[in-house]
Amino acid sequence: MNSYILEGGQCLRGEVPISGSKNAALPVLAATALLEGQYRIKNVPLIEDTLTLIDILKLLGAGVEILPAGTVVIDSSSINNCTAISEQVGKLRGSYYLLGALLGRFGEVNLRMPGGCNFGSRPIDLHLKGFRQLGAEVVEAEDIVSCRTTGLKSNSIFFDIVSVGATINMILAAVKAEGTTTIYNAAREPHVVDVANFLNAMGASVQGAGTDIIKVHGRDKLNLRGTYAIIPDQIEAGTYIAMAALTGGNIKLHNVIPSHLEALIAKLSEMGVSFAIGEERISVSMKPGQVLRSTNFVTAPYPGFPTDMQPQIMVLLTQADGVGKVTENVWNNRFQYVDDLRKMAARIVTQGRSALVTGGSKLAGTEVQAHDLRAGAAMVMAGLVAEGQTEIQQVELIERGYENFVNKLRDLGVQITRQVDTSPKEDFFKINYVS
Ligand code: UD1
Repeated sequence: MNSYILEGGQCLRGEVPISGSKNAALPVLAATALLEGQYRIKNVPLIEDTLTLIDILKLLGAGVEILPAGTVVIDSSSINNCTAISEQVGKLRGSYYLLGALLGRFGEVNLRMPGGCNFGSRPIDLHLKGFRQLGAEVVEAEDIVSCRTTGLKSNSIFFDIVSVGATINMILAAVKAEGTTTIYNAAREPHVVDVANFLNAMGASVQGAGTDIIKVHGRDKLNLRGTYAIIPDQIEAGTYIAMAALTGGNIKLHNVIPSHLEALIAKLSEMGVSFAIGEERISVSMKPGQVLRSTNFVTAPYPGFPTDMQPQIMVLLTQADGVGKVTENVWNNRFQYVDDLRKMAARIVTQGRSALVTGGSKLAGTEVQAHDLRAGAAMVMAGLVAEGQTEIQQVELIERGYENFVNKLRDLGVQITRQVDTSPKEDFFKINYVS
């Protein structure tokens, strides 16, 4: 397990380019398996999760070339296999997009149950119910899901819970199905829109993405080639914004879509952070000696406050003036990292889905864990303002989702050391990825 070591009392200054969105890149890469041609996907973040999915696509028979600056060229015409049960599949949550993609292409798929960050039960029942409604037979055995059909048929699908993954999987499965599929209570996240835009650019007809009713008009003739650029990662952008606010910094982010960050910008403005918004740029600034004001956060599906920013916000509240409350409404067990913040002397009391955070704490550097991707980023934040040295362990989990994290932090003036563990390894991902 690798670790980061950093001293407290640091401040972010400078400029940072934001990478492509992990949560958009994963379904778009998987969607190439649904199509049958040559696709050039630009702005793909080259991180553990996307590289693992690329490996899985290669195992399925795709030709893949990774070019500089995150351009991935995929020839999916050679995919000749609808079974993905290798260990890699279990390493990331996003591999479940292959269910919709391969079922849509071959009428059959066998997939190892997906992994991903461990913050509570992460079922895929909505995905499977949707596939059944489109006419697939679904069998779950041990840790493998199998779906097959003699032909997917359109239907009306209503999701009881707003789910990003299930919405995207239904879109993928319905693109080539007969007739028009309507998805009600669909997720509205920017990455859902990005996948729809990609598919439409390749000849599909997905209407209404970005609203809670999506209509997919099935078509079986799709483009055999095309180029598409992934949207910027709003959670990566949000994390650097939160870091600047926390440390009294002053930074400019490039390659962002400010409208994707509206909830975060509104809430941090409430706390006293100043923003200057350009077309693809955001500047974040704090006045010298400024103290943030506490406020309350409630996570919710987009356009609500994103659950993937919840741990970072928790750290911000430990330094604000007053008591703030964080309510986690998306996941039922996403406060595991709070114990490590308490170890650093944060004053946080959790009760069920809520956490009360008393601000103005002097955090103390110590040894902590990256419990998951976003919680890991939150630990780095805590280390930036703690007194003394903080060592964050198992940073592989952070690097699953933040491209070039250490170098970007260094460019923003942060002194951080990455320590590589040279002791003999067990399969780290096997132990930590399964939820
Ligand atoms: C995606 C993101 C993840 C983010 C989450 C919410 C990827 C790879 N991951 O995860 O980073 O935290 O959106 O923005 O894109 N649910 C069910 N049954 C299902 C599916 C989901 O009950 O079949 C529930 C989940 O338990 C959770 C909620 O729905 O409480 C939201 O989950 P969902 O939006 O599906 O999250 P993911 O797509 O897994």
